[in-house]
Amino acid sequence: MEKCNVALYGCGTVGRGVAEILLGHQAGITRSIGRGIRLACVVDKRVDELRKLPLLAGIPICSDLEAPINDPEIDIVIELIGGMETAGNITEKALKAGKNVVTANKALLANRADALFKLARQRGRSIGFEASVAGGVPIIATLRDSFVAETISSIFGIVNGTCNYILSRMTDEGVSYPEALAEAREKGYAEADPTLDVEGHDSAHKLAILARLAFGINVTDNDIYCEGISHINPADIAYAGSLGYKLKLLAIGRIKDDGVELRVHPTLLHRNHPLAVVDNSINAVCIHGQAVGEVTLTGLGAGAEPTAGAVVADVCRMALGVYQEDFRLLPVFGGTETIHCIPQEQIETKYYFRLSCMDRAGVLARVAGVLGEHNISIDSCIQQGRAHQDSGYVPVVFMTHRVKEENLLNALREINSLECIDGAESVMLRVAEI
Ligand code: HSE
Repeated sequence: MEKCNVALYGCGTVGRGVAEILLGHQAGITRSIGRGIRLACVVDKRVDELRKLPLLAGIPICSDLEAPINDPEIDIVIELIGGMETAGNITEKALKAGKNVVTANKALLANRADALFKLARQRGRSIGFEASVAGGVPIIATLRDSFVAETISSIFGIVNGTCNYILSRMTDEGVSYPEALAEAREKGYAEADPTLDVEGHDSAHKLAILARLAFGINVTDNDIYCEGISHINPADIAYAGSLGYKLKLLAIGRIKDDGVELRVHPTLLHRNHPLAVVDNSINAVCIHGQAVGEVTLTGLGAGAEPTAGAVVADVCRMALGVYQEDFRLLPVFGGTETIHCIPQEQIETKYYFRLSCMDRAGVLARVAGVLGEHNISIDSCIQQGRAHQDSGYVPVVFMTHRVKEENLLNALREINSLECIDGAESVMLRVAEI
């Protein structure tokens, strides 16, 4: 079989990892798939810098975005430029020119998957995007292949390595948030703009992609409730720990009778929950299928090597022609239905909240009164002695039973306005019930 020619757009951290695998493991790849893959060219604006890399010796490098797309020799375009506009244009043009595309661009797919998938299908081409969610964890392949006949009721997990790393370092070693974030950037986990990680947007992008495949629905990240970890106070990690919980940033998609819940937020997980022990940059995704029950996939979710491995796996499947069949046959790649997204205030779960209360008689009774009026039942409560505080206010931590978020928020609004509560200090976190 003829070699498959690949143009690599974007030779940053992941792009270099891809070049290393394609150039360093040629014989192994040919042996595995029965066809050679040739890195035909690299497209990147840093031409001079890249020409100095021994890795790319002999590989044509250019900054012309159009030439490889118009080159009839190129079979596959790997898009690792990131961002929306240029990456979107390259993807569209490549598909229109009859190329298959492999991308790790979760932001692009979270926003434009519907149009891009339809275009690929119309042109008899395909888009590989295993690397867009959870790095080296083969979650897209699992949903597309192993779960193709399943009715999936929920999919949830830890899909941002940067946030998981930061929360692990804060929890296990008492490292400060800025220090842990700097470490995550240093290790190559974070996005070029790390606010995408820490404000939850990266997880929301990934959840939009997962929900599309798992539930066959047309969603974008705008449909997803999104809250990040930048406001997390180490005190809450410690209180949660003393109640037997660990804090994780979860992405949650769940089909309900009246629509779908799609949300990303810091979540307290009981220490016995399988995701509670998933630490550092590890990602994990749990899928609930009607027939097979719960399946959890775990592995390295961020960093050059696992992500590059997922890109190359997609290239290989494309060289074999397998993806083109998926795009031709599977309805999820041709157009999906829109579904009602349940507003965040309508969800029901358990909650943790911390109040800064005046340490005097009757305060807890007033708080309990407001909670009772809003039909909120308390599961447990911790109050720390005044010896730890010099302000006259003491932290009091509550865990609720299951309640609608709207009720909890209304109650907290009322409680925060009581003269015996320092409302500016109040904190609310959701507790997993999954
Ligand atoms: N910034 C991402 C993360 C990289 O931390 O998970 C992988 O998508």
